[in-house]
Amino acid sequence: MTEDFDALAPETFDSTHALYAELRARCPVARSDAWGGFWALLRYDDVCQAAADYETFTTTVQNVVPKVAFTGRRPPLHLDPPEQTPYRRALNPLLTPARLAILEEPTRHFAVELLEPLIARGHGDICADFSTHLPIRVFAEWMGLRDEEAGRLASVGRAFNIAVQSNQEELMKRSSLELYEMARGLIARRQAEPLDPAVDPTSALLAARHEGEPLPEDMVLGCIRQVLVVGIIAPTVMIGSIAVHLARDPALQSRLREDPGLLPAAIEEFLRLYTPYRGFARTATCPIERGGRTIEPGEPIALVYASANRDEARFEHADRFVLHRPNIAEHLAFGRGPHRCPGAGLGRLQLRIALEELLARTRRFELAGEVVPTRCPEIGARAVPLSFVPA
Ligand code: HEM
Repeated sequence: MTEDFDALAPETFDSTHALYAELRARCPVARSDAWGGFWALLRYDDVCQAAADYETFTTTVQNVVPKVAFTGRRPPLHLDPPEQTPYRRALNPLLTPARLAILEEPTRHFAVELLEPLIARGHGDICADFSTHLPIRVFAEWMGLRDEEAGRLASVGRAFNIAVQSNQEELMKRSSLELYEMARGLIARRQAEPLDPAVDPTSALLAARHEGEPLPEDMVLGCIRQVLVVGIIAPTVMIGSIAVHLARDPALQSRLREDPGLLPAAIEEFLRLYTPYRGFARTATCPIERGGRTIEPGEPIALVYASANRDEARFEHADRFVLHRPNIAEHLAFGRGPHRCPGAGLGRLQLRIALEELLARTRRFELAGEVVPTRCPEIGARAVPLSFVPA
């Protein structure tokens, strides 16, 4: 079968969205030979339907294209319901608005500490100097990590991300195993000295009971390992992409600076436009007929959230930034169905505080060099050189 698109073709910050628009019109269920071959669902309705139908589209084989998990099953992402459910039941209460309110002040403190020297210098890369650090610090606070653990997470997390982006299987395995080791250490520490399970994620997973029994030890380990990276990369890329947009649109930059109350609405529209995880993967459990194509059982399928979120059939003028878009709540940046992101609130909190502080502390900022795009499985900016005029 000839491929419909080359997933390995060079990309720029904007080119992939143009490619997806063309594919949505020509070939919305598209095949690429990259990484051993996979299907891509590009239209909003197809992606939504697949994300909800976990019996036909299982997550138990691989969750992203290219496949990056080689070192064990990690709940909740690697399990379908009902097996997945107890892990979500344990994690969800730790990410409620009340719990997140406690993280607001430390998040602002970290943001200011990182932004002050950067803005005072007058120029820098918002990704390397700010957005790669903020989510790790916030995450370490949420997980109750010690400073040295947070430092280690920063370096291993970075190595893991580089390995994923460059598809280096050996480095992926090595950094994943190191993350397992960190998770093991954290579990041992909480077993010895449990914290309040209403506040601490590791203690919550250890205290969780399913049908009266504790969750299996290897699965608790896998879950902590999963959680250790899943919430870090998306805010990093998102902040970079939003910075590109605002640098290109000084009028919007000024408007949001004058009225920060608009930020939550703006952030939702940014999430739609610059969905940082381009898509998660599922595997067909039976023959699937879609868009005139047949997907065979066992074939990997990318649910391309970044494409679905720019589908004109769902979002009018989909490539434009429209503040207060009436159906913005339908965007898929956090996924849909049983795996919908439990950390959406924490992601939004970081984006809002990052933007509030960046805008308040500058009179304007501009692009000062080439934007470097990320690769699969993310989409957006990996390096954004900016110059700043301090407030
Ligand atoms: C802007 C920030 C974020 C974005 C855009 C994002 C996006 C997503 C998406 C699209 C999924 C669905 C995966 C799928 O369909 O298979 C997901 C799952 C997940 N996210 Fe996030 N995420 C963000 C931040 C976070 C944070 C801060 C956490 C930290 C707790 C987190 C924890 C998780 C977990 C544990 C899952 C797996 C859920 C499951 O399989 O049931 N995310 N995220």
